Amino acid sequence: MSERSLAIEEQAWETLEKSMIYYHEKPIGTIAALDPGIDAANYDQCFIRDFVSSALVFLIKGKADIVRFFLEETLKLQPKTTQLDCLKPSRGLMPASFKIGFANGQEYLKADFGDHAIGRVAPADAGLWWIILLRAYTISTESKEFASRGDLQEGIRLILELCLVTRFDMYPMVLVPDGASMIDRRLGLYGHPLDIQSLFYAVLKASLELLTPIKENQAIIQAVRNRLDPLIKQLRENYWLDAERLNVIYRFQVEEYGEEALNQFNIYSDSIPFYRLAKWLPEAGGYLAGNLGPSQLDCRFFSLGNLMAIVSSLANEQQSHRILNLIELRWSDLIGEMPMKLCYPALEDVEWRIVTGADPKNRPWSYHNGGSWPVLLWMLTAAAKKMDRGELAHHAIAIAERRLLEDHWPEYYDGPDGRLIGKEARKYQTWTIAGYLLAKELIANPSHLKLITFDA
Ligand code: GLC
Repeated sequence: MSERSLAIEEQAWETLEKSMIYYHEKPIGTIAALDPGIDAANYDQCFIRDFVSSALVFLIKGKADIVRFFLEETLKLQPKTTQLDCLKPSRGLMPASFKIGFANGQEYLKADFGDHAIGRVAPADAGLWWIILLRAYTISTESKEFASRGDLQEGIRLILELCLVTRFDMYPMVLVPDGASMIDRRLGLYGHPLDIQSLFYAVLKASLELLTPIKENQAIIQAVRNRLDPLIKQLRENYWLDAERLNVIYRFQVEEYGEEALNQFNIYSDSIPFYRLAKWLPEAGGYLAGNLGPSQLDCRFFSLGNLMAIVSSLANEQQSHRILNLIELRWSDLIGEMPMKLCYPALEDVEWRIVTGADPKNRPWSYHNGGSWPVLLWMLTAAAKKMDRGELAHHAIAIAERRLLEDHWPEYYDGPDGRLIGKEARKYQTWTIAGYLLAKELIANPSHLKLITFDA
């Protein structure tokens, strides 16, 4: 490894350690950002989704205690009984974030289930990440003992119940509100966004590994089994976009009623940007669409969903290669000067106004709306390494290394090529740092991939 690379890693480690927070004198998580320059808002909290990047690094470095304590304590925040009070979080929901409060001389964990968050968005991804992390902990410690404990089993069950049991939907995907994932502001992700479906699929598979065959688990294990095949079919077939599929959708019949309908979602051809897509999509490439619902096929490329589809084997072998081909062949659009775009392309003009509610933080090519997020580097690395395409990851890491340290580890970058430090980006953003460290670890020792990847 070059001297420069070593120096960057060293600084990353130091900062990651500084971001650790303690509860009852034990490390319990990492705060979102250590930026002294900007008003903290909620960046002084530990976000469940953000902590996963740090947690995987800690597991790799043999520091499993912080991960275990995090899993145990966040589980206590999960409501366990049916709520009749509409202002209370639902049974099974996991919070987006928490911080350490202090009352009557005692420390306590103060959780945010979306009841404080900007826009009051409820996190659908937090519980999903929690299960994915519990599986990683189990693999890393080579022991199922912790996960088999009654309280942990109940936690898994309640998260699954939220996704599997009562719902206003007839599809195998999970139905969620807008802003329910890493993209926690309105961005047209109401319904069945890919980012959530990929995590959901990983969670169904993880749950079959984690749930013990006790009586209380029987029904939910059956529900998971029932869900897997239809989910995979729906995602691999109806979300998939490539040149061939574009031709099918272009000539779709509409207004079809009944079980035989091919165009189940009644997608109208005029709603799809065929000419732009036909030009942009290379023959060897393909990807899973961003969202699918009634008369809606969102053709934006979402990185988290596509990369996690590879990592979880939701995408089949050929699809996984085609997603990576797309990244390789559309490198300047999807990676540019900083890996990598959260979604592509950005919503502009009237679309931006209507879909985001004219949100200035999400103006075109900024933040979630076409900004570039270095945390995605680890998912890109995991996906590329899993498919034996490590050169893509090496190349992306080298690009990130040119900037991250000097720019003080920003949360995100702006502009079509990711050249600008994000307008409102926090510096010393923990998952930027952890994402970089994790990517380096996965490249240096691919056996760690097992913590996060799933077999087909
Ligand atoms: C922003 C991001 C969200 C992240 C949080 C803390 O709200 O959109 O994904 O969890 O910051 O970093």
